[in-house]
Amino acid sequence: MNDETMTYEYKVVRQFAIMTIVWGIVGMAVGVLIASQMAWPVMNFDTPWLSFGRLRPLHTNAVVFAFGGSALFACSYYVVQRTCHTRLFAPKLAAFTFWGWMAVIVSAVVTLPLGYTSSKEYAELEWPIDILITLVWVSFAVVFFGTIAKRRVKHIYVANWFFGSFILTVAILHLVNSAAIPVSWFKSYSAYAGVQDAMVQWWYGHNAVGFFLTAGFLGIMYYFLPKQAERPVYSYRLSVVHFWALAFTYIWAGPHHLHYTALPDWTQSLGMVFSLILLAPSWGGMINGIMTLSGAWEKLRSDPILKFMIVSVSFYGMATFEGPMMAIKTVNALSHYTDWTIGHVHSGALGWVAFISIGAMYYLIPRLFGTEIYSKKLIETHFWIATIGIVLYITSMWISGVMQGLMWRAINADGTLTYSFVESVQAMHPFYIVRFLGGLMFLIGMLIMAYNVFKTVAKGKPVEAVIPAPAAEH
Ligand code: HEM
Ligand code: HEM
Repeated sequence: MNDETMTYEYKVVRQFAIMTIVWGIVGMAVGVLIASQMAWPVMNFDTPWLSFGRLRPLHTNAVVFAFGGSALFACSYYVVQRTCHTRLFAPKLAAFTFWGWMAVIVSAVVTLPLGYTSSKEYAELEWPIDILITLVWVSFAVVFFGTIAKRRVKHIYVANWFFGSFILTVAILHLVNSAAIPVSWFKSYSAYAGVQDAMVQWWYGHNAVGFFLTAGFLGIMYYFLPKQAERPVYSYRLSVVHFWALAFTYIWAGPHHLHYTALPDWTQSLGMVFSLILLAPSWGGMINGIMTLSGAWEKLRSDPILKFMIVSVSFYGMATFEGPMMAIKTVNALSHYTDWTIGHVHSGALGWVAFISIGAMYYLIPRLFGTEIYSKKLIETHFWIATIGIVLYITSMWISGVMQGLMWRAINADGTLTYSFVESVQAMHPFYIVRFLGGLMFLIGMLIMAYNVFKTVAKGKPVEAVIPAPAAEH
């Protein structure tokens, strides 16, 4: 085929886009189930593989890597082609990344409830699955950077810098943190011991937040928000500056997960200082996203997709304000081990990660199937039900978390504890019910989205989009 009439490789984008919604529903349904277990323990059904300890890692893996991961694959494959004016490099390898990633997820869905785990948070999967992840990730890197290499536009658009740093850093994090000595097919021991193991784990854990849940989704923001708003990025210079500042700063902040542990004190203070500095590049991204709408604010009134995107960026701003505060040692002394952390996680996860992904999917899916969205009104309904759901989730966790922290540290004049642990558990009960209801609303929103997308796909058909001639604008 002549280069001029070549079409973009959309099949793999379509596959990942649809699976984003499917895994979103699965992961969030598990989230709602474990939220119900915390309010009503009978929801364990006295079954080991339905117990909280096994389903919690299933929830985190399903929402972060299956839902978030599929959104990142779909968007990065779409954006890199559109901004480089070229077809994906090695489409067969791209197809392998789809089937390989699905195999990783299905393996997680089977092994985690059975109790197989390396016990490292967000890296629970056992070593054979880790090897498969490595193969898929290297293939992802080859496809992505191969496409950049054969681009027909000189400039590399900033979204690709964010996607590129996400792919590279996650590869390094995974290789270092998952280094282990296998003792059988389903059991391995970490290559590190004691406090070194903890430090490697949280270097990984925090940068999974920084590069998987942040840099990748900033890549999504930098393409889809200006497209949906039909405005250029507010400040391209700021996007480049905050990219480098973010990449440099994130990598040092991990020790804030290990305050008051056996980790050397100076390391904890270093982590705290870098977390405080991190506010600046994070807000650089947030301001750039929100200000992209300057002069076009009225669009927010009528465009529910834009609502998802702008509220998402606002939650990004909130979570990245809250995070540095929680990294201050004296604040962390109150927040650590409490539901405050869970509230912070979900203002980032539901507010930022899920909302920007949902916005991008509503933009993408009709274009991949050559049609209009089935119902704009249903997007509006989805937006409101999900927003109320998040507010219920995070406010209940804030109140419950601060209350827990205060109850645990309250002491009487004679030095004895004012409250027993079980009294704090009792006090949390109403908030766990509110969190369950908030989560349920968020899940119902996803089901509405699934229906809307199903009707959209049914009336459209897969598109073959022609790549513009070299001189044309994208
Ligand atoms: C400037 C940015 C941020 C900083 C400095 C930061 C800081 C923190 C701190 C101090 C904790 C509590 C650690 C503990 O007491 O155990 C935490 C937990 C967490 N944060 Fe953030 N945060 C930031 C942004 C985000 C964002 C945007 C997300 C999600 C998209 C996120 C996801 C998480 C997760 C998943 C945890 C829980 C980790 C665990 O214990 O399993 N953070 N963060
Ligand atoms: C319907 C929506 C959701 C519900 C009801 C829900 C519920 C829960 C519950 C009950 C926990 C365990 C909390 C605990 O141990 O005390 C949890 C943990 C977690 N969830 Fe969700 N979740 C939802 C969506 C999401 C999404 C979309 C993401 C990511 C994109 C996410 C990421 C996480 C993470 C990283 C943790 C572990 C936090 C930590 O260790 O500190 N969740 N979730």
